[in-house]
Amino acid sequence: MRVFVAGATGAVGRRLVPRLVRAGHFVIGLTRTPSKAGLLRELGAEPVVADALDEKSIRAAVVAGRPDVIVHELTDLKGASDLRKFDRGFASSNRLRTTGTDHLLAGARDCGVKRIVAQSFCGWPYARVGGTVKSEDDPLDPNPPAQMRRTLDAIRYLERAVTTSAAPEGVVLRYGAFYGPDTGMCDPALIEQIRRRRVPLIGGGGAWWSFLHVDDAAEATALALEHGHGVYNIVDDDPAPVRDWLPTTAAMLGAKPPLRLPTWVARLAAGEHLVAMMTQSRAGSNVKARRELNWRPRHPSWRRGFAESVQREAKPVTYALT
Ligand SMILES: NC(=O)c1ccc[n+]([C@@H]2O[C@H](COP(=O)([O-])OP(=O)(O)OC[C@H]3O[C@@H](n4cnc5c(N)ncnc54)[C@H](OP(=O)(O)O)[C@@H]3O)[C@@H](O)[C@H]2O)c1
Repeated sequence: MRVFVAGATGAVGRRLVPRLVRAGHFVIGLTRTPSKAGLLRELGAEPVVADALDEKSIRAAVVAGRPDVIVHELTDLKGASDLRKFDRGFASSNRLRTTGTDHLLAGARDCGVKRIVAQSFCGWPYARVGGTVKSEDDPLDPNPPAQMRRTLDAIRYLERAVTTSAAPEGVVLRYGAFYGPDTGMCDPALIEQIRRRRVPLIGGGGAWWSFLHVDDAAEATALALEHGHGVYNIVDDDPAPVRDWLPTTAAMLGAKPPLRLPTWVARLAAGEHLVAMMTQSRAGSNVKARRELNWRPRHPSWRRGFAESVQREAKPVTYALT
């Protein structure tokens, strides 16, 4: 197949492109950065330079590539390191999830693309009620914290646009929080913060999180080119509460246990949304992806994955939150 990968130079893209080439696909890799064309060639893709937010140029790039499938792995996290201003930090990524998705779908319709596989996030977008580990049938948060509203709106927009599309047919992959090589929104900074006990355990640390090694994200995405429909949680087998993964990670780093912060203090200092992410968010189940995509995470638990990362690199784990 001919596969157009939007976001081919990213953490997922850099793993996905060689995986697709090995499987015999012809890959067209999108970047908005001309100097990255060489990297894409090295990965085995035909590079194309265009801005996904520029409708004319991205539609032309899609049409010129004549793909059978489009993969949407776009994000723009510059400015997203201050999680206190969540929606502001994710504004560019939100545009890629709304306008960028529209442009890719328009390009797809221009040239008869059969399928689109697009990313989403598994974790805090789920409604903060009921069980701690959610399936794809569970509702998203009808009333998210004010700081996260626009980001959740963008996630909903993408999911609706992609899954209601008849031509191309669309699949959405809700990835867990990435860790592993090249995942890097706030990698050294966050690790340093955990080492210095500056990431506190808020309240009882009762929020549940799902993690995902970036190699497993790429593998699930490759499988979704040919299998499945609708929405899938792509997460490891080991959802965990913050009260587990945060102290465990600190211990792996040789740091003292995180300090504890009462919810009301955290609310004042960091905002309602960060309190929600640390005390109320839900994780996801990968049962549907296992059944319908025949996907199995090669890194089934973040515990081992984080520990391996700690051994391999000095800067082990990274988290991005959309
Ligand atoms: N990190 C997580 O925990 C997490 C969790 C769930 C979902 N996700 C989603 O998973 C996807 C893959 O993430 P990642 O870590 O691989 O991302 P990444 O490493 O930050 O890469 C982002 C990619 O988007 C491209 N891009 C950004 N703006 C663009 C524009 N205007 N036009 C064209 N290309 C543009 C970049 O291209 P150039 O820089 O080459 O121009 C780059 O290839 C993203 O959609 C992300 O939101 C991430």
